Amino acid sequence: MAGKRALNIVKMKKMKSEGVPLSMLTAYDYPSAQLAEEAGVDMILVGDSLGNVVLGYDSTIPVTIDDMVYHTRAVARGAEHTFIVADLPFMTYHGSLDETLRNVRRLMQEGHAHAVKMEGGAEIAGTVKRIVEAGVPVLGHIGLTPQSVNQIGGYRVQGKDEADAKRLMNDAKALEEAGAFAVVLELVTEEAAAEISKALSIPTIGIGAGRHCDGQVLVYHDVLKYTSSYRDKRFVKTYADVGSLAREGIAQYVKEVKERSFPAEEHVFSVQGTHKPSTSLYGNEKEKVNSR
Ligand code: KIV
Repeated sequence: MAGKRALNIVKMKKMKSEGVPLSMLTAYDYPSAQLAEEAGVDMILVGDSLGNVVLGYDSTIPVTIDDMVYHTRAVARGAEHTFIVADLPFMTYHGSLDETLRNVRRLMQEGHAHAVKMEGGAEIAGTVKRIVEAGVPVLGHIGLTPQSVNQIGGYRVQGKDEADAKRLMNDAKALEEAGAFAVVLELVTEEAAAEISKALSIPTIGIGAGRHCDGQVLVYHDVLKYTSSYRDKRFVKTYADVGSLAREGIAQYVKEVKERSFPAEEHVFSVQGTHKPSTSLYGNEKEKVNSR
């Protein structure tokens, strides 16, 4: 894509060493990517949470590589200067290496991602290593890994006892050793996440993993309360109630159509071009642009 990107994986590691936190937000389409970039996020994640928050599934499992490529490409068009990570969805990196690399290639070449994210720890470290060797930055993801929700038995906090915290630490180290440039820690106790963040030289990016991670990631629709099925989650802070604003705006539109107060005189085109009401599509200030 055109333009200069603000961030790369070398700078991310430097940010960790300097104690500068990384901000990451999910986005799934052109407008959400534009808004995220304009607001100054360091990284955009085209997460397979796409399945839950955009496509209406009840988990990430139905999301396909085609879905991810399509949405990543839209995000890349909207955020040309931001580092974009795309999720490899369910079962797209557990078959042959050829098949895995084909899926990675699609996210990078067709989707225009700058990196891929994969769920799993030591058990996928070999695959992570091969992808990194192919020149592709990999973001690891451990803790609660939603693609394995049926195996984990629900969306539970991870690292609650010593053995589990140790397992997470081993997984994080295996990913670092395999060449991952950072690791997402999802729904992990603050204590375990702090230990892992201290032990790794690469950044940790937390979601529901407390205050000591090197960065934070949240889901766009959670930050903006942008869905009518929104449920409060302890680890989420909502920064704007876009859902309510959207609902009110749409209800007002419906009301005005019903009572025939929209369209009003200023919204119509007349035969007499330059006289009011205007023939310009976007209002008078854009008259020149629209005469092209
Ligand atoms: O899919 C996603 O949005 C994610 C984040 C929750 C980290 O994996």
